[in-house]
Amino acid sequence: MNLPLKLPGLALAPASPRFIDRYSETPGGLPRSAAQELADGLNEVAASVSPKYFYDAPGSKLFEAITRLDEYYPTRTEAGIFEAAHAQMASALASAGIRRPCLIDLGAGNCAKASSLIPHLQPQQYVPVDISVDFLRDAAEQVQATFPALDIVGVGMDFSAGLQLPPEVQAGDRVYFYPGSSLGNFSPDQALAFLQRITEPAQGGARGLLLGIDLVKDKATLEAAYDDALGVTAAFNKNLLRHVNRLLGSDFDERQWRHLALFNEAESRIEMHLQAQKNLTVRWPGGERNFRGGERIHTESSYKYTLASMSALLRQAGFTQINYWTDPKEWFAVFWASV
Ligand code: AVI
Repeated sequence: MNLPLKLPGLALAPASPRFIDRYSETPGGLPRSAAQELADGLNEVAASVSPKYFYDAPGSKLFEAITRLDEYYPTRTEAGIFEAAHAQMASALASAGIRRPCLIDLGAGNCAKASSLIPHLQPQQYVPVDISVDFLRDAAEQVQATFPALDIVGVGMDFSAGLQLPPEVQAGDRVYFYPGSSLGNFSPDQALAFLQRITEPAQGGARGLLLGIDLVKDKATLEAAYDDALGVTAAFNKNLLRHVNRLLGSDFDERQWRHLALFNEAESRIEMHLQAQKNLTVRWPGGERNFRGGERIHTESSYKYTLASMSALLRQAGFTQINYWTDPKEWFAVFWASV
């Protein structure tokens, strides 16, 4: 909690982050596009729900728990790379002529990753962006308590829909921070379009991008990371149904669904699905869908790259200087790409 600093005859409020909410879920007043998007996905022949709907408040907590699981190697492997190479990352920014960046943290969540880099990158402004608005608001306040002098502008928005940042966000020396392999949750075509948007002066206006991405490895390691023994990832996947019920007014019963995680080698992606355990009908205002027992809802794809395939994608998106750092097993990579 931020308490005002009391001096005799003077009360100074500590700096607090500014917060701009472009994505609020008002109960009963959901933006039409989101309800429509959910209904459209459920009505497809191969039903799907966008993975962005994992991240309501309980989903964000479950995701935090996933990142601490033995089987889920990406978070700790990436943290090890940041720890080992933060000085080299700071020099890479300096070599690109960037000294006090505006650090835009995409999918910031609890802001823990950026917090560990802030002392090294010394941003002028820190801009955590996330769809999970209340979670982000709390996290931004914690970052502000740790770095009281830092200018922080929290932005609640769905950046998968566009990258129009509010005018409070500094226009110059923008460095995008996109850790955790979240880019892997886009298809390669969507990832390319997204990276191009980041580099476009009229959109993202990036000078550079610090990107964490998971690399291709053996199927058993990958599948265990998305189907842990404690069942936390299964709970995360099924929590999506509760979120959809709230947003769409549907009547999913999560006990009728099973969590599945499979590595699709041809597509180089982990797929998460929810599989109906029997024939059932799901209803919502204005619609319904019958599922046969065994039928699935595709809830997430997590694409895995090689060092070569990610370098090629970054070049195709318009980045010219590309560096990367990996762990000794080459399970994960952090890329620095400048325009
Ligand atoms: C956020 N994203 C990068 C995670 C991933 O690995 O694709 C989400 C996740 N899904 C299941 N476990 C973690």
